[in-house]
Amino acid sequence: MLSITVEPCTFALFGALGDLALRKLFPALYQLDGAGLLHEDTRIIALAREAGSEQEHLAFITSELRRYVGAKELDEAVVERFLARLSYLHVDFLNGEDYVALAESAGSAQRVIAYFATPAAVYGAICENLAKVGLAENTRVVLEKPIGSDLESSRKVNDAVAQFFPENRTYRIDHYLGKETVQNLIALRFANSLFETQWNQNYISHVEITVAEQVGIEGRWGYFDKAGQLRDMIQNHLLQLLCLIAMDPPADLSADSIRDEKVKVLKALAPISPEGLTTQVVRGQYIAGYSEGKAVPGYLEEPNSNTQSNTETFVALRADIRNWRWAGVPFYLRTGKRMPQKLSQIVIHFKEPSHYIFAPEQRLQISNKLIIRLQPDEGISLRVMTKDQGLDKGMQLRSGPLQLNFSDTWSSARIPDAYERLLLEVMRGNQNLFVRKDEIEAAWNWCDQLIAGWKKSGDAPKPYAAGSWGPMSSIALITRDGRSWYGDI
Ligand code: BG6
Repeated sequence: MLSITVEPCTFALFGALGDLALRKLFPALYQLDGAGLLHEDTRIIALAREAGSEQEHLAFITSELRRYVGAKELDEAVVERFLARLSYLHVDFLNGEDYVALAESAGSAQRVIAYFATPAAVYGAICENLAKVGLAENTRVVLEKPIGSDLESSRKVNDAVAQFFPENRTYRIDHYLGKETVQNLIALRFANSLFETQWNQNYISHVEITVAEQVGIEGRWGYFDKAGQLRDMIQNHLLQLLCLIAMDPPADLSADSIRDEKVKVLKALAPISPEGLTTQVVRGQYIAGYSEGKAVPGYLEEPNSNTQSNTETFVALRADIRNWRWAGVPFYLRTGKRMPQKLSQIVIHFKEPSHYIFAPEQRLQISNKLIIRLQPDEGISLRVMTKDQGLDKGMQLRSGPLQLNFSDTWSSARIPDAYERLLLEVMRGNQNLFVRKDEIEAAWNWCDQLIAGWKKSGDAPKPYAAGSWGPMSSIALITRDGRSWYGDI
């Protein structure tokens, strides 16, 4: 049994009244407290720009905590313990004088964790102000995405932070890396010799990564319209998944061994040519349609929208990796808002057997698939070919699953939210679930060429009805290669 020790810290949460903090971060800290994973001396300081009394803000944070943790998981004794750790400080992030009170509150804490749930534009200023009040020495800083909107702007943010905090105390969040099933990719690949021997272009024909969301913009138009689905999802979450699937085995589990291998994959991504922009990439934008049986507006009709926007809410693309392991194996990536269901899955399609001996009409279905379901119904399924049963069936083939459903198989364990894992790892000083500067930059470098190409062409995104799997051309993108998206109905 592995036991986990966590050192005490002062956890300073900047942007404590924002959506992310209320929805994800306080509940995650609460769950860690409930699991006995916050040291008894750990203190949490909520920092925000909003005026008003400490009492009023703490009352609001508490009611939001109850709402987001949910009645089923609330334990009053834990709530009480958690609130005893919590205080509120009003801070203008840009005003150095406001940090004096933070330094006093942190007192002689051996370790400060400063979590920036604020726009990236103020990360540099927060770091500078922390340093001015003597809080740079023992502090780990946690940076939320998006870090910049292209390579140049992300470098600026990273450089501003690096003036005060070294890389080994800088934790860049990609919350997908905190998902249990995403970490399971490492276990699946490197704790099972079965797969590694097959994990290359000799045996794998192609890979699909789908991250579909049922929600639309949910009141985030202001942010989302400047970003779009490529920056919001592909640049980070989908490319991280691609890296975990495609990377070579690391020498060990240390943060740098893993990140070195991931960065090699990002650097090996083939740039997409100007012709490729039309044949290999599809941008879409949802129009009015139906979600869960209810009529929903199109992107341009969402509250506060700009009816002229060309921002994409869907991207499908074919990425190629230029190395020995993956030459000739396309990675099809697809992600969108207002899809028919929330579904994140990776499908590894294996090649057909080299010599085929069964009935010719069954040949099309004959390839093994490894389906890794990240959400919902987390699990792994390996589709294998078997013989259909019955005297009348002859040697008729059938594809069936070897199935591992995590919640049924390990029924006692609650699957923790990604942020619980990530906050715990920051407290433990373990960087392997965080993104290194060179990874972010390599990912931006690849995405920037797409953004530049789109800008140059000026083409509008293709419309798709809310509740569908995206524009028709995203189907053409894969059928052109003689394949189809797995499981689309
Ligand atoms: C965030 C994006 O990083 O990930 C959101 O900014 C998106 O637009 C979210 O909805 C999806 O995360 P999850 O964990 O719900 O798949």
